[in-house]
Amino acid sequence: MPPSDIHLVVKSGGSAAVPQWRTLFAELAPQVRVHDWDDPALDRGCIDFALVWEPEAGRLARFPRLKAVLSSAAGVDHLLADPLLPAHLPIVRMVTPETQTRMAEFCTMAALMLQKDMLRAIHQQRLRHWQEFSPPATAREMTVGILGLGTLGLAAAAMLRAVGFTVLGWSQGRKHVDGVHSYAGPDELPALLRRSQILVCLLPDTPGTHGILNAGLFGQLPRGAHLINVGRGLQLHAGDLLAALDGGQIGSAFLDVADPEPLPADSPLWWHPRIFISPHTAASASRRAKAVQAAFSIAQWQRGEPLSHTYDRARGY
Ligand code: NDP
Ligand code: OXD
Repeated sequence: MPPSDIHLVVKSGGSAAVPQWRTLFAELAPQVRVHDWDDPALDRGCIDFALVWEPEAGRLARFPRLKAVLSSAAGVDHLLADPLLPAHLPIVRMVTPETQTRMAEFCTMAALMLQKDMLRAIHQQRLRHWQEFSPPATAREMTVGILGLGTLGLAAAAMLRAVGFTVLGWSQGRKHVDGVHSYAGPDELPALLRRSQILVCLLPDTPGTHGILNAGLFGQLPRGAHLINVGRGLQLHAGDLLAALDGGQIGSAFLDVADPEPLPADSPLWWHPRIFISPHTAASASRRAKAVQAAFSIAQWQRGEPLSHTYDRARGY
């Protein structure tokens, strides 16, 4: 018997992206019928799965047959913001191999740019000022600490090691990863911070990580350490960062995430000469990569297998 149709509603990239989603699913999982989240004639009663980014509060609760929510992002804070999100629904995080590669590349690029003081070169270029300078150290002489040694932190660790950095990682539980010194739990955080000349934040957005990048933490880093935040904007205390930059405790920062997003035009973060800002572009996977993972999740559900990459409500990430 041919498999029956599966109905997927999509809110990722807007209505304009729906034809591309249809083409991708026709190729990857032909039994999946793609519906536009914004279609006024959408039959809510037939929807099995939702692939979404920032759904309006209350909407997901109105699909009576929904089996699971497929997050269009690795982080699920955009879903948890909905107070009416049904508690029984599994949530699958979007962590594709492409997401891991992009994040690893981004963290490596950011670490090298900060280590080589490219902010200084950009500043000088704007002034048309030619002044030679040598970055203080090579990657081999520098240590990167990664807060969050999950799917993305581990990918970043591997690439940072490959270019020569010494890599440390912090997580809730101990990790056993070749060449990465693992620090676990709050008691071991100070030891990692003491050694981190570049600190990368790749933590999920949870009550335990809000505001973790603050003056107290900056004060435990070696003087002049650099910060890369690719986790979430709420993890950073922006005022503390500005003070630490101005006082020299932090040398420079690369911020890919902000609170709120978009970063307001009047935020002082935009103007600081020791800050790079990118608009949450570190690791967004392509639509094809997302469709591959969504099709895989749907196939797992059809086979009655546990879904991979699910959000764990007990842990909060
Ligand atoms: P994972 O869930 O795989 O990993 C999370 C890691 O954080 C784990 O190592 C976990 O420890 C650790 N952790 C969580 N809470 C704490 C805590 N309180 N103290 C110490 N360690 C903690 O997530 P991913 O790696 O897939 O993604 C991480 C985050 O990256 C996402 O949630 C999202 O916010 C952000 N992200 C940003 C993107 C961007 O473009 N800027 C793109 C994609 C993701 P343990 O392993 O012991 O459980
Ligand atoms: C994220 C993503 O969670 O882009 O930030 O996947």
